Amino acid sequence: AAAFPPGDGPRPDQTQSVTVRVPAKVNLALSVGPLRPDGYHDLATVFHAVGLYDEVTATAADTLALTCEGEGQADVPLDATNLAWRAAELLARTVGRTPDVRLHLTKGIPVAGGMAGGSADAAGTLVACDALWGTGLPREELHALAAQLGSDVPFALYGGTAMGTGRGEQITPVLARGEFHWVFAFAHEGLSTPAVFRELDRQRATAKEEVAASGVDAELLRALRAGDSTLLGAALRNDLTRPAVSLRPDLQATLLAGRDAGAIGTLLSGSGPTCAFLAADAVRAATVAAALEAAPSVRAVRRALGPAVGAHVL
Ligand code: C5P
Repeated sequence: AAAFPPGDGPRPDQTQSVTVRVPAKVNLALSVGPLRPDGYHDLATVFHAVGLYDEVTATAADTLALTCEGEGQADVPLDATNLAWRAAELLARTVGRTPDVRLHLTKGIPVAGGMAGGSADAAGTLVACDALWGTGLPREELHALAAQLGSDVPFALYGGTAMGTGRGEQITPVLARGEFHWVFAFAHEGLSTPAVFRELDRQRATAKEEVAASGVDAELLRALRAGDSTLLGAALRNDLTRPAVSLRPDLQATLLAGRDAGAIGTLLSGSGPTCAFLAADAVRAATVAAALEAAPSVRAVRRALGPAVGAHVL
């Protein structure tokens, strides 16, 4: 404090601002088991963070405030319904202080796109406020707060490639090597995650299917261990594909356009509607991206490498 006497310019706690970068995710496998009594589904998934990012800047302020720019900004709520807002409140309550922070989101991850953008913003807010306020919470406690906020929030703290179990919030690292070339096709409109899970339940009930316990195929884990993109492309699997395509039939056209352009793997990202394509290398990724740019069912195309590191202070 001696270096910053009152009246001698701003004190550090009034000017300090922390920016955190957080990656999007794609689920390389998403196996959905039975509906649990709490309304969630038991699932087994392999999360994979990719180089599409949101940034969260936290600045000391008088009261909690939220602003947003970038991809899909018109669809981002700027009040307590935003997971980032709730993350700041939850962390403040946990450490016994007021959430006197201004949050600014710079979005690169599509909104309601199945790439966990809202979850990334929540994870980024936890890390940014933790740094700004000097709360120094242990990693396990941040993880527990993240899990309270949403099923996909804990993984955004870790990044890399990891298994998710329970409702997705229990994270175990997966042995993976190599770097993968991804192409993402954004849709014209978002898709509601609960609606896709409900459609899955409806389809299963109609077909009188016996719902098997969730699990991840051994071939996928082998492909990741070997860093083999051809094997990985063949092992990609997402149980939410059928319900998402039934709600949005034009997703089928997007998936076929990428496959026809030479993708070695095609996948719905999470609950969609973003579609993910694995390419053998950077040159093939450019070919797949160009073909998708021309597809009427596609709003925008992005290329990214995976895995990416989790939420980190810039
Ligand atoms: O945990 P989160 O709030 O992100 O989940 C959003 C919605 O997705 C839940 O309300 C639920 O409808 C569905 N969900 C599910 N089973 C999971 C994860 C999410 O049914 N394991």
